[in-house]
Amino acid sequence: MKSLDQIIETEEQIFLNRVPKSVALHQRASKSIPGGVPSSWASSRPTPVWVSHGEGAYVWDVDGNRYIDFHAGYGANIVGHANPSVVAAVQKRVTQGTHFAQPTPDSISVAEELSRRFGLPQWRFCNSGTEATMDAVHLMRAITGRDLIVKVEGSYNGHHDAVAISIFRSAKELGPSDEPWRTPGAGIPQAIADCVRIVPFNDIDALSRVFDEHKGQIAGMIFEPILMGAGIIVPQPGYLEAVKELVHRHGGLLAFDEVKTGLVIHAGGVTAMYGVVPDIICLAKALGGGLPCGAIGGTTEVMSAITDGRYNQVGTFNGNPLTMAATRAVLTEVLTDDAYARANDVGAYVLKNAVDILQSHGQGAHGYQFGFKVSVVFSAEPAKNYRDFLDVSTGAMHLNYLMQFNGGVFLAPWGKSESLTMSVAHTRSHGDVFLENLAQLAVVIEQMSERTSEVFAVGSFN
Ligand SMILES: Cc1ncc(COP(=O)(O)O)c(C=O)c1O
Repeated sequence: MKSLDQIIETEEQIFLNRVPKSVALHQRASKSIPGGVPSSWASSRPTPVWVSHGEGAYVWDVDGNRYIDFHAGYGANIVGHANPSVVAAVQKRVTQGTHFAQPTPDSISVAEELSRRFGLPQWRFCNSGTEATMDAVHLMRAITGRDLIVKVEGSYNGHHDAVAISIFRSAKELGPSDEPWRTPGAGIPQAIADCVRIVPFNDIDALSRVFDEHKGQIAGMIFEPILMGAGIIVPQPGYLEAVKELVHRHGGLLAFDEVKTGLVIHAGGVTAMYGVVPDIICLAKALGGGLPCGAIGGTTEVMSAITDGRYNQVGTFNGNPLTMAATRAVLTEVLTDDAYARANDVGAYVLKNAVDILQSHGQGAHGYQFGFKVSVVFSAEPAKNYRDFLDVSTGAMHLNYLMQFNGGVFLAPWGKSESLTMSVAHTRSHGDVFLENLAQLAVVIEQMSERTSEVFAVGSFN
């Protein structure tokens, strides 16, 4: 019988043996690109995988291995790789010029469709989730004239200074639960972190306390209405409504960071799914169908700050013609009601069978499925907040990543925090391959001599 760490070591060796060209490219890249990857999120154990191409539900690595893709570029590609509608829109646009920094008509179609789906009347564009949440925070502060913002513990809202506070922390780096530490990310002054107040998800009393302690000073709250960077953690009944009421009662604005959830879990995001419309919505990831597109939606009152020049929402590439052409195709041709119905069918099938498999081998499990997202968590108890989630075994989730990869299924590398993302090209039979690999993993876990990991400490984020 082997321990968790020994099995991880064996599977990492199998992984490396499958991808010699990736290993070589990573070595070469490491000389000219720090860490050998274009973004530190692409850095993962045992090596980053270099991709050659994708089609529909599949990706191929540079060694010629084919994988069913549930990584979807960190949840961004729900249209499937080389989706014909997106390809046609981009091919047409690319021959007509791709950048003018003057508007093209596609941007109106995109804004109108986002209004219809999310229930906010006006939209502006940017190029990433980070830019969208940055604009949201600027707007909240510019409109209210207040400095403080509230964010949720464990939520990742992008890498700009205002929100890159206390993210990706292990249990011992969080501080007391009634007043979590405000730890700035590297390169961010403590003074900026001190403009943030951190509250646990699903805790309306903690939020109420923060507003009472800082009367008239809080510009607003930004958070993911379903927490996505910690598996999936759902809001408890009434939580979103209560947050909105509380924030407004104190004269603040409410921003939903739907960068990960918007369009993915539902056609109109958490906003439409739960029927709680905030003042500002941030979108990115899936919006551009694989091209870099971000957006912020706002109420007429919020967006009047842009209209009348109190806040200049800017960017050379905002509303870029190529991005807008792709996004229009995504919204009007690909992500149809039928597409969501099919995703819900495949996703529900995968979730039910995954939980059954794990439980039948004595592994506590639960999960969620919404639209194109499926989260299978190796723990019997659903987490209510980030601190609960840290109890889930990081080692076991990493082993799942490795065994899925070695069995031809590409998950997002940060196995514990990430969930599965499907695309319009995924069917139940793609799900079956994931389930077969999971069944093998469940047997391995059942027979393990030691389930704790020295490599992945208890309470670690990833
Ligand atoms: C919820 C959320 N907000 C914002 C971002 C930042 O988006 P981007 O990486 O496009 O800057 C992310 C990225 O993972 C995210 O998950």
